Amino acid sequence: MIPSVETANAERHGDPRGVCHSTNGQSRPPGMPADREGLAGGPWEIGGRPLPSRYCLAPLAGYTHLAFRRVIRETGGLGLATTDLVHATLLLSGKRKSLELIATDPADTPLSVQIYSGNREHVVAAAKWLEDHGYLGVDINMGCPMAKVTGQGGGARLMCDPDGACRLVAETVAAVKVPVTVKMRLGWDAQTLTAPALAREFEQAGVAAITIHGRTRQQGFRGQVNLDGIRSVVEAVERIPVIGNGDVVTVEDAIAMRRLTGCGAVAIGRGALLDPWIFRRLEQWHAGLEHDFVPSAEEQIRFLDRHLGLMWEQHEEYSCLMFRKFAAWYGAKLGIPEDLEDRLRRFTSRGEFEAIVSEIRQRHGERQGSVPTALIKVPNGPVEHW
Ligand SMILES: Cc1cc2nc3c(=O)[nH]c(=O)nc-3n(C[C@H](O)[C@H](O)[C@H](O)COP(=O)(O)O)c2cc1C
Repeated sequence: MIPSVETANAERHGDPRGVCHSTNGQSRPPGMPADREGLAGGPWEIGGRPLPSRYCLAPLAGYTHLAFRRVIRETGGLGLATTDLVHATLLLSGKRKSLELIATDPADTPLSVQIYSGNREHVVAAAKWLEDHGYLGVDINMGCPMAKVTGQGGGARLMCDPDGACRLVAETVAAVKVPVTVKMRLGWDAQTLTAPALAREFEQAGVAAITIHGRTRQQGFRGQVNLDGIRSVVEAVERIPVIGNGDVVTVEDAIAMRRLTGCGAVAIGRGALLDPWIFRRLEQWHAGLEHDFVPSAEEQIRFLDRHLGLMWEQHEEYSCLMFRKFAAWYGAKLGIPEDLEDRLRRFTSRGEFEAIVSEIRQRHGERQGSVPTALIKVPNGPVEHW
């Protein structure tokens, strides 16, 4: 029998060294998602660190802070979450903003902190600092396309200097015991697709997993994710898991990415803003249950309320500003009438938020359009700005 793409990948990635293994029906604890149609669905691990699922939250600067991670975890099915990218140098100097970005609590696990800098020593020192402060995973950003990050030699710019990138990764791995992962793009542009070669080098250096966004830096967020590109990274490594990333907004997208690329796991960013239940849907899919469910109106409203409530615990009044941009992503999925979504983008107090929520409760489902406002307003996503 010719092994399917996934079987081949699972065999390579599920070897006795135990970097990443699938579970079978016998050993799976009750309630754990099943392997389905040749795709492993149960718990897995990165560098010996157990994770409840293979579906991860991709970092989204400005969005994936503690409150969002917690409310998404509460909907179920999430494997690993990663913080927004944190500047290594600013973290080391104790900048309040950086410390806010790495804020966590016991319900926010498993978590990796993503760091970036063009300065190798600062990345190494920040990884060590994180380990010393109890963080259990460090992710190095090599994918950020923003000019202010790449201009300092960080983010995707590191992919243009393979020797420097390898040295930075090797020294970081050597400095800490926690698993170090790398998130990168396919390369700087279509002419320099360095990701497969770098992935191979990083594996040799001891990296525990690679997340690959299937676009180049040049592409920004334009066009479609390149699944062949992701596949070339999967094929380049011997045993570490590759986490595919880009444009996954449905269960079917995630399954197709795994089938067509052979990646062992999937990271979902914008798809989680558009559908906060996407991880639970994937869990249901693996368990052979209905994944196309519509959360009850009350569950949808509770989600909205809970997100703001968690944000308030950390940021108090400032939450009014921070929360606004979520409205454009949530409106369509949460059945929020357009005029109330508009008010959610402008509210200035907790009392006003609560008044809007009670109006949503009364008028839930009156929304006319089904296309999320965020997709209309930001079609290509950020390069110069997020
Ligand atoms: C608003 C926004 C912020 C992002 N911030 C980060 C970040 O901090 N670190 C990172 O590695 N990638 C970041 N990304 C890239 C995403 O993690 C992801 O690679 C990309 O959005 C493609 O995946 P998706 O289609 O599932 O969103 C960001 C993307 C967006 C749209």
